[in-house]
Amino acid sequence: MNAVMQRTDGVPPRLRVEGVTVRFGGLMALEDVSFDVPAGQVVGVIGPNGAGKTTLFNVVCGFVRPATGTLELDGERLRPVPHRLAAQGVARTLQGLGLFDGQTVLENVVTGATNRARAGYGSALLALPRADRDERELRDRARELLTEFRLNDVADASPATLPYAVRKRAALARALMAEPRLLLLDEPAGGLGQDDIDDLVRVIGSMPTRTGADCSVMLVEHHVDLVMQVCDALVVLDFGRVIARGTPDEIRKDERVAEAYLGADVEVES
Ligand SMILES: Nc1ncnc2c1ncn2[C@@H]1O[C@H](COP(=O)(O)OP(=O)(O)OP(=O)(O)O)[C@@H](O)[C@H]1O
Ligand SMILES: [Mg+2]
Repeated sequence: MNAVMQRTDGVPPRLRVEGVTVRFGGLMALEDVSFDVPAGQVVGVIGPNGAGKTTLFNVVCGFVRPATGTLELDGERLRPVPHRLAAQGVARTLQGLGLFDGQTVLENVVTGATNRARAGYGSALLALPRADRDERELRDRARELLTEFRLNDVADASPATLPYAVRKRAALARALMAEPRLLLLDEPAGGLGQDDIDDLVRVIGSMPTRTGADCSVMLVEHHVDLVMQVCDALVVLDFGRVIARGTPDEIRKDERVAEAYLGADVEVES
């Protein structure tokens, strides 16, 4: 199997995962995992329960340090540090939502801009000295995101008082406030109804064009329908190894993938 997929001549991928191995005691959670997320593409990571999806997500977030292997972001070595991710150009949402209940929805979204990417990425605001004007412009931007995610009515509410699907939208709006080059999503469809999933499909589908920085997405997801709809390419993990990669159509026809999922406790519908 090729070490990586979709190498584009001369242009480094947004994210390159190369030879990543993670062991938990005697258990090989990831074994020599390699793939690329090209700029402006949505790549899904799927696989049966225990395949290593969350572990891989945690490696890219910096929560888990691999025994071997490297990460690159736009051709530069990435050593992810969880609390500095936004400054490194990477945003994420977690299975748990990670919103601050002591702040309003608007404040939560504004906070997403803290420590965001250094100048050269994101808006020209970054070049300006800190001032009230910046604060106002950040709020304007946050307001735009609230409108986009249909959160205006709850801008002043605490996330704790809101339905799960609404909090998930707020978490996504906050992640986008950082104008990331790479957005990492762990099971964004989990716990959502079909209407909200349709919404999510639209939002994820628009990611590559939305910031002007051809934001890429790495999506870890159980919901196979969603993944098939929004992803340009898929990586399939089984027992910590990459068993297939390709377009959704290729993956649908792949016998090893069908075998891996057969008998596995996979949540095809959520
Ligand atoms: N911190 C840990 N310590 C020990 N073992 C772990 C740890 N985290 C994960 N594992 C094990 O590593 C393997 C991969 O787990 P992981 O959570 O990455 O799988 P997953 O594909 O996300 O599964 P799911 O679909 O259930 O979310 C599993 O066997 C799991 O039990
Ligand atoms: Mg998981």
